[in-house]
Amino acid sequence: MLRQFLLAASRSGGARRLVETAPYTRNVVTRFVAGESVADALTVGDRLISDGLLITFDHLGEDTVETAQAETITGRYEDLLTRLAASGTGTRAEVSVKLTALGQLLDDGEKIALENARRICAAARDAGTTVTLDMEDHTTVDSTLRVLTELREEYPGTGAVIQAYLRRAEEYCATLADEGSRVRLCKGAYSAPDSVAFTARDEIDKSYVRCLKVLMAGRGYPMLATHDPRLIEIGGSLAGLHGREPGGFEYQMLYGIRPNEQLRLARQGAQVRVYVPYGEEWYGYLMRRLAERPANLGFFLRSLASR
Ligand code: FDA
Repeated sequence: MLRQFLLAASRSGGARRLVETAPYTRNVVTRFVAGESVADALTVGDRLISDGLLITFDHLGEDTVETAQAETITGRYEDLLTRLAASGTGTRAEVSVKLTALGQLLDDGEKIALENARRICAAARDAGTTVTLDMEDHTTVDSTLRVLTELREEYPGTGAVIQAYLRRAEEYCATLADEGSRVRLCKGAYSAPDSVAFTARDEIDKSYVRCLKVLMAGRGYPMLATHDPRLIEIGGSLAGLHGREPGGFEYQMLYGIRPNEQLRLARQGAQVRVYVPYGEEWYGYLMRRLAERPANLGFFLRSLASR
């Protein structure tokens, strides 16, 4: 119930204004978001890299409604990638991109998002790194996978996210588990109807394991995006079973969530990538993090009440 309420609020303009103008929201935001500027993101990124972690940067933004806004976000990614190229950080940092931020929901949006994503992929290649396409609301999945196919023709290292809560997740993984493919497997953070997604936790977890088996047995590069201790352990065992060395897959977690576990895995020799979001458009991202864990909501409300 609470999760559905928060996910609905993540798309509500009224709730957005209320949360954005609440005086102490920022205390909670900084737990999950690196800051508003590219400089903030790079500072956090440098610290994580010096701790032995890898990064994927996400310039926050989604559900873009104007072409100019899509253009601005594309430019911000190009700027970030130019800086990564100049600092030589491209070998340890990549970028994650939401196609709705690049214009996917506009008229003729798939074409606009594809062209913008192409520009970002070109900048990523110049920086010696890659792009991963985030997966958003279930209504955008087919379009995102079509854009991925187009991008991979020119930029074969472009990655995609598959959400295990989707009933078709295992089928998507089987299609994508080919040579050179990079697949980030997560549980799924949006609200989706029963007809397209599992909703019970145990069903989602079982789907995650089925997808993991497909990806680990395949020829691509699996990226295990989860904080769930049981799935992290199963992932490690499956990697061993399929003879994958530590460089043959990676764990991924969100900035601010289980940071000690991120370090523990990295110190054991695993590749661990931290998803580092930054920018002014943090609202939708924050609401999804609150929806994942009621304890975060308590923390958020306490921080408002204690001032
Ligand atoms: P689960 O929610 O069961 O959490 C397991 C444990 O992790 C919890 O018990 C708690 O300890 C900790 N935890 C999890 N979430 C927390 C939170 N918000 N605050 C504090 N602790 C928390 N989703 C999507 O739909 N599309 C996408 O493109 C992406 N991309 C993405 C990239 C990366 C790198 C990650 C790690 C995740 C995503 N996600 C995503 C989000 C994903 O779908 C999922 O919602 C979250 O990762 C939470 O699910 P877990 O697998 O961590 O399990």
